[in-house]
Amino acid sequence: MTLNEVFDTCKDLELRHAKLYANLSLILGELDVRAATFWENMSTQEWHHFIMVDFGRSICEKTVDLDQIVEGLPNLNLDQIFEILERNEKRVFTEELDLNDGFEIAIELEGTESDSLYIYLTSIVIDSINEGNQPYLMERLQKIEKEMVSHHTELIDATKKLSRNPDLVRKANALLHH
Ligand SMILES: [Fe+2]
Ligand SMILES: [Fe+2]
Repeated sequence: MTLNEVFDTCKDLELRHAKLYANLSLILGELDVRAATFWENMSTQEWHHFIMVDFGRSICEKTVDLDQIVEGLPNLNLDQIFEILERNEKRVFTEELDLNDGFEIAIELEGTESDSLYIYLTSIVIDSINEGNQPYLMERLQKIEKEMVSHHTELIDATKKLSRNPDLVRKANALLHH
């Protein structure tokens, strides 16, 4: 894979996560107003990831060759990541979902290694920022890195509060121990 392709793949994943969570907000918001707010926030966070990757790509453009084949890419099963995403997209568009289905879907999505791609790209962008001597950009990146952790803890908290399903809570908790 070229670096350009990694950026494109990552953007595709983030955007589709953002859309999927936005749909959950519309569908499940009708059942519970707290669910509407929660899924809207999740969607916004994914949208931020998308913007960040896109922004990072334009920073890298100036200092690195985007056509280079990437090295050190974490060992990801991209086919599996896309298979899980497609399956859950289909669920959202065809099934009648309840509150717990939403958590089940998000826990499965967040449990894939798609975040590793995002984290890998962040490290490339950080190198590029250091080379271009733009420390002010570093602050923005670090803020987004912190957000990544709360993205998962918020999902865990919402699962506890809104699902009250011990099995789902256990699965959600496992997200922090990858
Ligand atoms: Fe994301
Ligand atoms: Fe996510």
